[in-house]
Amino acid sequence: MRLNNYLSAAVAALAVAAVAPVQADITLRHALTGETLDLSFAKKGGNTEQFKQFMQTGKNPYNGNEAAVKKGESLYMTGCSGCHGHEAEGKLGPGLADDYWTYPRNATDQGLFELLFGGANGMMGPQYVNFSTDDMLHIMAFIRHIYKGDPKKADWLK
Ligand code: HEC
Repeated sequence: MRLNNYLSAAVAALAVAAVAPVQADITLRHALTGETLDLSFAKKGGNTEQFKQFMQTGKNPYNGNEAAVKKGESLYMTGCSGCHGHEAEGKLGPGLADDYWTYPRNATDQGLFELLFGGANGMMGPQYVNFSTDDMLHIMAFIRHIYKGDPKKADWLK
């Protein structure tokens, strides 16, 4: 191969590596429309090992992790408590600590992530504007931590 050709092949390979999507075994869909979520909108820095793991299993690796729950609590207080209440008891938006969900898929980690990333109706806008995908997993771990509903309905544990 001539040097020029070799170089352009190398550049092309690098370009492919740079835009290659997250290795995923799950397909994330918008909670309302069912359309595939476009993760290219995600904020930088959220593609952590834990997020990659989530994209393979659909399970939040931060659940039950004390440090992650703490960080999630502080993010929740900044970005969610104004509408959902400090104890997620519900305010402008519904309660998030009980076992009633407007969107039943929120009882799974995948469903909850999909709703956070893509948003739902009215004031529940897409959270990728404010939080990285890794931040969202932290917030989710906090929400699961303060759960007061029936343990049998905690589908994320199954
Ligand atoms: C500006 C107010 C507002 C903010 C900020 C907000 N939400 Fe919401 N949220 C709402 C409203 C209103 C709904 C109801 C939307 C619907 O029914 O489609 C909702 C719905 C939800 C639902 C669905 C609940 C169910 O019963 O299925 C979840 C989960 C949720 N929000 C989590 C969050 C989290 C986590 C944050 C912070 C990252 C957040 N929201 C920030 C107003 C807000």
